[in-house]
Amino acid sequence: MSDKATLQYKDKTIELDAIIGSEGEIGLDITSLRAKTGMITLDPGYGNTGSCTSEISFINGEKGILRHRGYAIEELAAKSSFMETAFLVLYGHLPSEKELSEFIAEINSESTLHYGMKSHFEGFPDNAPPMAVLSSMLNILTCYNTDLLTTATEGPAFTAPTAKIISKVRAIAAWAYRTSIGKPFMPPRPDLSYTGNFLHMMFSETFNLYEPLPEVERALDLFFILHADHEQNCSTSTVRMVGSSHASLFSAVSAGVGALWGPLHGGANCEVIKMLTRIHDEGISPRDFVEKAKDKNSPEKLMGFGHRVYKSFDPRAKILKGQVDVVLKALKIEDPLLDIAYELEEMARSEDYFIERNLYPNVDFYSGILLRAIGIPVDMFTVLFAIGRMPGWISNWREMHVQSLRISRPRQIYTGETLRDYVEMANR
Ligand code: SDX
Repeated sequence: MSDKATLQYKDKTIELDAIIGSEGEIGLDITSLRAKTGMITLDPGYGNTGSCTSEISFINGEKGILRHRGYAIEELAAKSSFMETAFLVLYGHLPSEKELSEFIAEINSESTLHYGMKSHFEGFPDNAPPMAVLSSMLNILTCYNTDLLTTATEGPAFTAPTAKIISKVRAIAAWAYRTSIGKPFMPPRPDLSYTGNFLHMMFSETFNLYEPLPEVERALDLFFILHADHEQNCSTSTVRMVGSSHASLFSAVSAGVGALWGPLHGGANCEVIKMLTRIHDEGISPRDFVEKAKDKNSPEKLMGFGHRVYKSFDPRAKILKGQVDVVLKALKIEDPLLDIAYELEEMARSEDYFIERNLYPNVDFYSGILLRAIGIPVDMFTVLFAIGRMPGWISNWREMHVQSLRISRPRQIYTGETLRDYVEMANR
């Protein structure tokens, strides 16, 4: 559906189409603005700018709603699996039993890595940041799949790179972790579930296979579901930006990993645990920390709080908060960081500073406590976020090519020096 808007500036007046989305969102289409007026819009951080129309996910930040292809995240969390949700995010419908088993079979068939990649892993120092390893190795997959560097959106030319990336990202992540602790790669077990196979590759030993508690495997699978997609966030927009030049899907998701790594984005799940650990180990009172987080002169932020879109509870945070309890009880663990997290949340939600700015816990606030309970090292947290987000990145890359969008090339307003003559060194 569309409507019309009128824009007037001095003696110029133009009509703009108002695109109305299926949930009633309104976007003013300015694709012809510069051609008709010579003017552009300016929106650093893109808080008011839509880069595309999309059918994949919908967020209503005011109401704390997240849906994938129309299905509420709460329903998918309660009833779906990561593989089923990945299929839904990629192809737009819940799979039939046959579709799902074929999807899983293709992913299982890609569980291992080309032997040649071993030498690349051995080149990393032991303390190499896993996100740097992940981003590099995803791009190195390009070298072993030169026949798949297309912008195909259908058939094996799309399903093959998709299966390779969704499957091999686990092996790369597990190998990065095991290399960092001086252990050899653990070959995958395709007989296990997607998530079970990942935990096996992470924690099994040759004569002592890791058998996760059902609650642990379910919790991690749920973690992946909750991270599967999230509209045009920083890393997804990066994947679209890189893909818009017709770079390969491998390169696009490799760039997405780089964007996700930042502490303001996916890296926040590590920062939350570091923050809670510091509060615990240094005996900082949660009250004092909240005061620092409010203080503009303090570098402290309440990590895991706030969101560009959610101006009420991030529904994923609510679900993860509940899941943490389940896993800690199943593992018979008491984590003092959880009590601190509860206290911080309770305080923040009664503080005017946080209420006025609509700062609520986001997906990263409780996810770290869950991963820590499972035994995932902190520097691997964002890697697991990337594993979960792969279907969303790939689906956005695909949607962009299905829509045949132009290369992304934003404009700017120049505010630098106007024309001036070169000055010889002797006269400077
Ligand atoms: C993810 O976009 C997505 O969908 C991302 C994600 C996904 O699934 O892909 O949901 C995943 O990235 C979640 C966000 C994880 N990041 C963090 O938890 C880091 C801490 N949060 C902030 O850095 C911040 O809230 C952002 C980055 C999440 C949002 O930044 P915005 O939208 O640019 O908001 P802002 O920084 O302009 O903040 C508005 C106000 C400011 O105060 P004033 O200048 O108005 O006085 O709120 C304050 C900020 O100082 N503020 C915080 C705060 N977050 C915002 N103050 C203290 N602690 C915080 N965490």
